[in-house]
Amino acid sequence: MKISRRDFIKLGGATLITVAGGGVLRAMDQGVFSVGQGIAYEPWKNWRNADSPAERIVAAGILASNPHNSQPWLFRITDSTIDLFAVLERQIGVIDPFRREMYIGLGCALENMRLAAEAEGFSADIRLMPDPITEAHAASISLAMASPATSPSTESRRALYSAIPNRHTNRAAYDTTHAVAENIFSGIDALVTENDVRLFWFKDESARAKFGEVAISAAEALIADEGQSMDSHTWWRQDWDELQESADGITLDAQGLGSVITPLAKFMPDLSRPSNDEAFVKNVREVMVPTAAAFGILAIRDGMDNTQRLQCGQVWQRIHLFGTTQGLAMQPLNQMCERVDRERQLGIEAVFGRAVSELVGDDQWQTIMPFRLGYPTAEALLSPRRGLDKVIG
Ligand SMILES: Cc1cc2nc3c(=O)[nH]c(=O)nc-3n(C[C@H](O)[C@H](O)[C@H](O)COP(=O)(O)O)c2cc1C
Repeated sequence: MKISRRDFIKLGGATLITVAGGGVLRAMDQGVFSVGQGIAYEPWKNWRNADSPAERIVAAGILASNPHNSQPWLFRITDSTIDLFAVLERQIGVIDPFRREMYIGLGCALENMRLAAEAEGFSADIRLMPDPITEAHAASISLAMASPATSPSTESRRALYSAIPNRHTNRAAYDTTHAVAENIFSGIDALVTENDVRLFWFKDESARAKFGEVAISAAEALIADEGQSMDSHTWWRQDWDELQESADGITLDAQGLGSVITPLAKFMPDLSRPSNDEAFVKNVREVMVPTAAAFGILAIRDGMDNTQRLQCGQVWQRIHLFGTTQGLAMQPLNQMCERVDRERQLGIEAVFGRAVSELVGDDQWQTIMPFRLGYPTAEALLSPRRGLDKVIG
């Protein structure tokens, strides 16, 4: 059979349409056109809509920062109490062998809940680790109606409350031409009101270089550790349907890759674990560390104490919300602590144990939450959340 030029063009056209159509379908499948949409993102939009005050307070809690977006929380509520429990099965494996990050994340949720309780007109009496024999019982909150005279709500605390749905971890490059003014640092310092939590800054070039060196080598060590690499990858959600279903984990949208690379990456076949690891370390080395305006470390007196870890989480959430009100971008950089914990778990040489203590230079304080900050070059996108039906039990 002879195919005419016309037939050929028709066939080529059909192929093109099929390929392009397939591409559009894949793009739709992978949520290229639905950023921040679907059930997994609803909690960011409807957090003030639940029927009861206790549910609305929990709805604020679940928007908090938390490790690997594992959302390791369960809430039991009555009209006047909220109990917060750690869900130990949602531990991020050997990335967090001693549940340091888990309890920091629970503390972050507590801070959002405290702000929401105040905004609802309550004063919240929070007891941390209320039951010494139940490690999972992280906090017990009693809500009492506050009179105008006793109301803890102030204008600055209401501003933090309003920032709850706008706070997102920003993993993109920060603006290297825009320095952070001293009054912003002192504003952040003033938020650290807990006696067992202290903030160390790394602002000038040499301090930043020291921090950066440890942060980069920790990221390299982490991906070289197969157990940590695999446990991290467990929380990677590339498939859009899986992401909508689980409503947790780390997504491509949240990587800060920008409006050109992100849709392309979503369109491409899924990255293997090693490629993902390589991309992560490259990003730490070439983007996250060199573009930070400053680094900070939150430290507590006893790194294994859950009460102090919860308090550290409360402080981190407060700092991140304040940063949000000031137009700052922030991101925890926890690989150095993850390596310290891993060394301790495996009983191997404390390479990062020593490097991290040297950074802080005060053996009264143990590093548990390192982070970077600066002004954004790109907006950070939403990460998924499990709704109230999944977390109240
Ligand atoms: C204890 C803790 C450790 C974290 N460590 C990192 C980290 O090393 N790198 C990072 O990019 N994000 C880190 N995060 C941020 C979480 O991944 C992030 O909060 C989570 O994915 C939810 O996203 P969101 O903050 O944008 O709501 C950490 C958060 C917490 C509470």
